[in-house]
Amino acid sequence: MELIKVDYNKCIKCGICVDICPSCILEMGEDGPVCNWDRGCMACGHCVAICPTAAMDNAHCQLAKQIPVPMPVLDSETAYNFLRMRRSIRNFKPQPVEEEKITKLLDIARYAPTAGNSQGLYYIVISDAETIRKIADLTAEWMQKEIEVNSPHSRYFSNILRTYHERKIDIIARNAPQLIFACARKLNLTGVSNCEQAWSYASLYAPTLGLGTTTAGFIQTCGISGYEPLVELLDIPKKQQIVGTLMVGYPKYKYQRLVERQHLKVEFR
Ligand SMILES: Cc1cc2nc3c(=O)[nH]c(=O)nc-3n(C[C@H](O)[C@H](O)[C@H](O)COP(=O)(O)O)c2cc1C
Repeated sequence: MELIKVDYNKCIKCGICVDICPSCILEMGEDGPVCNWDRGCMACGHCVAICPTAAMDNAHCQLAKQIPVPMPVLDSETAYNFLRMRRSIRNFKPQPVEEEKITKLLDIARYAPTAGNSQGLYYIVISDAETIRKIADLTAEWMQKEIEVNSPHSRYFSNILRTYHERKIDIIARNAPQLIFACARKLNLTGVSNCEQAWSYASLYAPTLGLGTTTAGFIQTCGISGYEPLVELLDIPKKQQIVGTLMVGYPKYKYQRLVERQHLKVEFR
């Protein structure tokens, strides 16, 4: 199939597909949209998804594989409260999450936005307690090295390491039963940003599966830095880099209240 196929019998020449195409590869012709620059398509599927008469097909996002938008969409108050209910979960029940549920959690993350629709995040799920302990230890080692070169985070890291080493509290991995590492191709300059979006999707979806998550910030920063001992321990493929780490598990406690944030700061100009 050529990249874009238009059923001109169905097309009403509304021009919406031309308007919404992020790569501007469509133009309005006599009979409807035509595509003259098919190499720029980022396979986002907007043209197929928006067409009011299902006249548009795209080889990268075939019409036959797309489903109609399910109704009803959440009303704004329900959505607002749902979004506010998400909390970072740092206290987990010891039992690991079933692979099936983790797969569901990561599956929804595929729908998060990625730069240029690059997608392509690849996940490694660590469930072995001993390996998680080694990961936390290596992260602590990396933090110590950062302190030694006077990184701007030295003071903060020193406090964290005091808690970790002297008080023997796992402030790095929070005794999470599982850690999820996200990797992206080294050539993908936006892998870290893409991963942040993916974590948002996974974290917001997690409570619907009875799960809790928290970004493992120290571990992921260590991973993003490319700290060799961690990369080696995880056996990250050569062309991949770590772009994020998420703790996941069954929450030990249930939150009773929504907490307030700082005031909204916004300027309309
Ligand atoms: C980039 C990033 C890194 C984070 N790293 C950690 C971490 O290493 N350990 C931790 O316990 N929480 C971590 N958090 C969770 C934040 O502390 C938390 O989002 C914040 O305190 C607000 O609480 P809430 O998520 O429950 O609303 C991280 C969050 C983000 C966005």
